[in-house]
Amino acid sequence: MIVKDKNQNDIIDQELINSFEINYIFESKPINRFKNKPTIENTNYKLNNLKTKIQNINNCDLKSNAKQLVFNDGDHRSPVMIVGEGPGQKEDDLGKPFVGDAGQLLNKMLSAISIKRENVYITNVVNYIPPNNRKPEQAEINRYSEFLREHISIIDPKILILMGSVAMEALFGFKIKISKERGIWKELIISNKTYVVMITFHPAYLLRLPDQKKYSWADLKEIRKKIDELKLKI
Ligand code: URA
Repeated sequence: MIVKDKNQNDIIDQELINSFEINYIFESKPINRFKNKPTIENTNYKLNNLKTKIQNINNCDLKSNAKQLVFNDGDHRSPVMIVGEGPGQKEDDLGKPFVGDAGQLLNKMLSAISIKRENVYITNVVNYIPPNNRKPEQAEINRYSEFLREHISIIDPKILILMGSVAMEALFGFKIKISKERGIWKELIISNKTYVVMITFHPAYLLRLPDQKKYSWADLKEIRKKIDELKLKI
């Protein structure tokens, strides 16, 4: 029997429940449905697996030209992930992304919105320096974009920042122009998960064309605003 309370919501009669002969437990505590919450060990394991997969790539002009793999830098628990294009000479020498002139500018850009570089997670589309520091080719971008998608899934950032057209193309295709797409919040779906994305100019481009910095500054302010809105700890 359902007893309807005049003033409140429906109340299920205890007799009805008892008649099912099921021992219900009513808990006011929320149920923890996230049985597989990522642990640090889990993330490290997945990152190492991905690294090995990239190191085992065959028939790749990038890999055969490079001194070493340039995989990542920063905090893998960070809510902010930055994706650049690919290693340059200094990155190839040191094995870390964004450690040359573009990296110096990136550090300044982050610090302008009160973010320390070590508190973000940084990677590139391609993980080996292209021969003669050329731009990665479309086929190379496509090939490495599979690894990049996996990388994003592992880090699972709350905000993904794509720096430059190569990072944009790797995830959104080749038919769009960065001048039109930058500065606008976008959504990217990877393995049924939606990521919040900002495309912005690459620091190396800003070193070549400093008058474009005004656009980057607008994008950085948007990023800061989103971090504050989402109450991200960084
Ligand atoms: N440019 C990039 O896109 N990535 C680096 O790591 C360095 C320069």
